[in-house]
Amino acid sequence: MRAALMRRIHASLDLLEERNAAAAAAAGATGGNSGSGEGGKAATGRDEDAAGAEQPAALDLLMASRDEDGNRLTRQATHFLPLASMPYASQRLGWGQPDQRLTEQIADTVLTLLFAGHDTSSSSLTRIFHHLHNHPEAAERLRREQADVVAKHGSVITEAALHDMPYADGVVRETLRITPIINATLRVALQDFELCGYNVQKGTSLQVSLTQPLLTDARWQGEEQPLAFKPERWLAGAALKQGAWIPFGGGQRLCLGWLLAMTEMKVLLAVIFRGHAVELRQPDEPWVFFPIARPKRGMPARFVVVE
Ligand code: HEM
Repeated sequence: MRAALMRRIHASLDLLEERNAAAAAAAGATGGNSGSGEGGKAATGRDEDAAGAEQPAALDLLMASRDEDGNRLTRQATHFLPLASMPYASQRLGWGQPDQRLTEQIADTVLTLLFAGHDTSSSSLTRIFHHLHNHPEAAERLRREQADVVAKHGSVITEAALHDMPYADGVVRETLRITPIINATLRVALQDFELCGYNVQKGTSLQVSLTQPLLTDARWQGEEQPLAFKPERWLAGAALKQGAWIPFGGGQRLCLGWLLAMTEMKVLLAVIFRGHAVELRQPDEPWVFFPIARPKRGMPARFVVVE
């Protein structure tokens, strides 16, 4: 899935480059941007490029991409997700009347982003708020850190400002360390091998626990209170424990969006903890764990201003 997706994305980017180059060449041939009329429109790049072609949307690029054998997306009948964009895709790919059919690849991509990209971050943030509810001193420290960040960088959240938020980073990492929202990932053995005295045969499905390192890794067990929520342990070098923190999986199939997820969670913490607190209305809500950890009936919250 990842390799296929990455190939598609690269093919889409190549296509974008080709179109931009063609547009630049056409703009050169017509004397460039006159600032008015069709020439002006082309050079602003808002609606049409200089050759008169429409600016591609992401979906256009995906549809126009080819795999290494030159194949376009395949037409595949499915019954789920009457995606708003499919009539458009159907028309652009010449499939005739808009219908409910989706390509396997588009459905995969959309579902990946919905499940892998949305539920994961939202559940993790809910977990973070839950921990902060139980540890108001950590919430207070987040607010102090944000006051320092604003004093140093101003109110815009830049990359430099994000780097100056080690405590927020620690809060996110510590939450995922003791309460990862995905409990396990899957692998298929590509060859026979031995693991902890067991002979694993080629083709065997393996479930890899993402919570086990917390319970068994000697480096955590050597810590003071390994099961406690202590974001400050990340300020003291816990991040160096490679392989002992794997909430995003690892190896070649490491989560594709982990840096994005870390960034979005830190940005949200920064925005909220600049003068606000989070009040949970049902903090004792039980959690369920499949397919992803989340409070069974949600976790309504209020944001309140803190002086
Ligand atoms: C806190 C948020 C997130 C967590 C905890 C998380 C966790 C994971 C885990 C455990 C895996 C399996 C990795 C493995 O098998 O080694 C995974 C895969 C993946 N994640 Fe995330 N994820 C998060 C956010 C995101 C976001 C924001 C995106 C994209 C926008 C994303 C896209 C993906 C994709 C595409 C894969 C499949 C990678 C592959 O199979 O090669 N994830 N994620």
